[in-house]
Amino acid sequence: MSKNSFDVVIVGSGPGGYVCAIRCAQLGLSTAIVEKDPHLGGTCLNVGCIPSKALLHSTELYHQAAHGEAHGLVIDKLAINVAKLMERKGKVVDQLRKGVETLVKKREITVHKGTGSFVSKNEINVHPDDGTPTRVMGKNIVIATGSVPVSLPFMQPDGKQIVTSTEAIAFESVPKSLLVIGAGAIGLELGSVWSRLGSEVTFLEFLPTIAAGSDTDISKLAERAFKKQGMKFHTGTKVTGCKQLKTKVVVTAEKKGKEIKFEAEKVLLSVGRKPHTQGLGLEKIGLSTDEKGRIPVDSFRTGINNIWAIGDVIEGPMLAHKAEEDGVAVAEAIAGRKAHVDYSRVPNVIYTEPEVASVGLTEQQASDRGIDFKTGKFPLLANGRAIAQDATDGVAKIITDAKTDRIIGAAIMASGASEIIASIVAHMEYGGSAEDLAGTVHAHPTISESLKEAALAVQGRAIHS
Ligand code: FAD
Ligand code: NAI
Repeated sequence: MSKNSFDVVIVGSGPGGYVCAIRCAQLGLSTAIVEKDPHLGGTCLNVGCIPSKALLHSTELYHQAAHGEAHGLVIDKLAINVAKLMERKGKVVDQLRKGVETLVKKREITVHKGTGSFVSKNEINVHPDDGTPTRVMGKNIVIATGSVPVSLPFMQPDGKQIVTSTEAIAFESVPKSLLVIGAGAIGLELGSVWSRLGSEVTFLEFLPTIAAGSDTDISKLAERAFKKQGMKFHTGTKVTGCKQLKTKVVVTAEKKGKEIKFEAEKVLLSVGRKPHTQGLGLEKIGLSTDEKGRIPVDSFRTGINNIWAIGDVIEGPMLAHKAEEDGVAVAEAIAGRKAHVDYSRVPNVIYTEPEVASVGLTEQQASDRGIDFKTGKFPLLANGRAIAQDATDGVAKIITDAKTDRIIGAAIMASGASEIIASIVAHMEYGGSAEDLAGTVHAHPTISESLKEAALAVQGRAIHS
């Protein structure tokens, strides 16, 4: 095979693309990545999951220190150095970038830097920012080009006053006030970051509850907890207009038929993300996208036999771990093995404090599907560890099939919920029941005991409530 010809060419090096490349190489396939950005790792590593979690951690430390009086903390003059905070975030991202580069090199994966576009079904044109375009041939091509932020017709981000998450993870100082449009994952996480540092944060959310798609009880509880932290929420509020002035932005919204105006130094536009296929040249090979801009696939295969698509650019939750699972599955499929990812067991986490984590069906979804289900709940107010940690805002919930007792869904709002939810995913993966979870020994005192108690509550026999 010539040096520009590969078994697999992957366009995009996010968690979908680079993980797919590594698995392809492990399976003995010659593999190349085409990436337009200077660094590998995609949205997640460079401007998404990782930098946001670094900021969430640092600002939570600040918040704890600022509220440590009851614990005997005496801090005379607490201050935040935003440049240092950003420097640490940068170091975290850098370390992981180096890690991905090393893994890719170790597997002898060729990296072509430049924007990839289809020339034919086996050929990608790679156009570097500076330099001459090259062509790369692939027996198989995997589209892993991810997603980009959605904007509103009357509100285009300018990167300064009206920003997306990419700028909101890199502010040079704490904005005096921040209007967050959309109380979904991005808004809640980055709103928390800046609120903890003293910004006056106000959310405008179109839907009646925050954290769309979450269990309704939990999103109400979460809203209450975030309000206690000082953030303001206007739900059922549709943003309809925007005017940029020299030092502030004025946003018009509609709530219960009335027009309201809000103003702030900065506006974070976090109203969702859309698949990124612009400039890929899909039309050249006769591929089109669906009404949501996604590339339609059947078991990751597009309408063209040797072309596959994974991650945010196809159906399913727009999450890094889902993209990774897609990437592995496609590598296996190309190598002639079985490829399947069950999206019904993909956990979802919002990394606020407390964290909001869930997997499987909500009560609402179970009810919409006509499933006869049971629910068990356990409030963190009755959990010893939560009390010891001052973290009683939260609840654990288990939903089971009433006939089989199998767990069909779970949600937990708690400190550390992102780690705790993994045990429920494992129970569900093995077809576990509430009885199985209730009979599983949990260490004491832990917040995870609340899930065991919720499982006991399904049968009306929780011990501590
Ligand atoms: P991406 O990571 O978007 O990667 C696509 C890559 O393709 C990019 O590097 C891009 O430059 C490249 N590319 C695009 N077009 C071309 C082209 N024509 N030629 C060459 N290269 C191209 N998910 C979680 O699971 N947990 C989180 O905590 C989390 N936090 C997030 C926080 C923020 C602020 C954001 C914005 C997202 C977050 N996400 C999180 C979502 C997560 O980042 C995405 O679901 C994930 O990155 C999708 O992976 P992907 O491989 O499909 O695409
Ligand atoms: P989102 O889809 O989670 O939330 C967008 C919110 O904006 C919705 O609640 C929607 O009702 C609201 N909205 C839309 N138009 C509006 C309007 N005109 N006025 C007021 N509200 C409006 O999208 P978000 O937060 O931008 O995140 C995009 C994706 O990135 C997420 O869906 C998720 O897949 C991923 N992500 C995941 C994270 C995680 O796993 N922790 C963290 C950050 C992002």
